[in-house]
Amino acid sequence: MPTNFLQTKKRKGEHLKIVLNKKVAFKEKTTGLEDVSFKEIELLYTAIPRVDKKKIDLRTAFFSKKFSAPLMVSGMTGGVAEAKKINKDIAKACEELGLGMGVGSQRAMIENPLLTETYFVRDVAPKIFIAGNIGAAQLEEYSCKQIQKAIDDIGADALAIHLNAAQEAVQKEGDTNFSNTYSLVKKTVKEIKKPVYVKEVGNGITFEVAKLLAKTGIKAIDVQGAGGTTWVGVESFRGNKDLGETFWDIGIPTTVSVMETRKAFNGPIIASGGIRTGLDVVKCIILGADLASMAYPVLKAQNKGGASGVKNFLEKIIEEARTAMFLVGAKNIKELKKKKFVLKGKTLEWAKQRKLV
Ligand SMILES: Cc1cc2nc3c(=O)[nH]c(=O)nc-3n(C[C@H](O)[C@H](O)[C@H](O)COP(=O)(O)O)c2cc1C
Repeated sequence: MPTNFLQTKKRKGEHLKIVLNKKVAFKEKTTGLEDVSFKEIELLYTAIPRVDKKKIDLRTAFFSKKFSAPLMVSGMTGGVAEAKKINKDIAKACEELGLGMGVGSQRAMIENPLLTETYFVRDVAPKIFIAGNIGAAQLEEYSCKQIQKAIDDIGADALAIHLNAAQEAVQKEGDTNFSNTYSLVKKTVKEIKKPVYVKEVGNGITFEVAKLLAKTGIKAIDVQGAGGTTWVGVESFRGNKDLGETFWDIGIPTTVSVMETRKAFNGPIIASGGIRTGLDVVKCIILGADLASMAYPVLKAQNKGGASGVKNFLEKIIEEARTAMFLVGAKNIKELKKKKFVLKGKTLEWAKQRKLV
């Protein structure tokens, strides 16, 4: 059932408040990134440095847009008054640094075009990669024409369709009909005149889902695995405590989600969900991702320090990534992708059972 824009707006405002004021991280589950180590490569390369840290080239490209580092900010907000400054601050920082960003679900601006300005950042970010955003559940409600207009109105380079079955399942007013998602994604890919990719929201993608998505013609997969922000947790705080507590930690950890997706899908993969350091970014690229993205820590940085807070935070992440590349002896992203890794603990167990190694 279509919800009206006031409800959508109220929900987006509540999401921001909850994420900034409550603890909405996974409880037991982690990304698995702590299970990836670098088997002596680190030692060998620091003992005989063959790379000049200052000359390490982090540049990459995604959907023909240049990135100064393999990093973007995941789509978060839009549709509420405070979203305007949040999106603009993130956009300013990303433009200055040459990184990409996404906006939050554009459902609110489709329902009320007056809200377009809360998503629009092209005035401060003319060059960078910007992804529009819509929920898979909303593909039932809106035509491709409406979605095309929404991404054109903000000058987006691509459309990210978010899959959030776990969140919708726990959300009191959730849209839980995912029976036509596959054919709706396929239709959207065909009709939208910009690249379409799919992202989760923190519960991850399996080999089987990635395989199915590959058949729809989507151009990239943003895994958004488990271990960072949990939307089941957010919805639990919004009122559905019983279901929320039981399913709080559900999802595919980010590390294995990258590996599962890589096995099934040849296109670009974004590693995300619980990415908190530049070291995490580098680990994910070694595991098979092309770039990484972050949501909550960027929102926190914006909340504390506006555009310069975001810029400082992202600069720190880039410096950590550069340091990690130096320590594994990779002078560019192409070399980084060839570096070896060892798996430990529960990630190794998962990888063996799922035949990922
Ligand atoms: C305040 C907030 C709002 C979000 N809204 C959206 C959204 O509208 N659409 C979407 O695809 N993902 C949304 N997300 C999910 C993020 O893009 C990301 O998938 C998730 O937070 C996991 O990343 P993290 O652990 O780095 O926070 C939102 C995240 C936050 C923190």
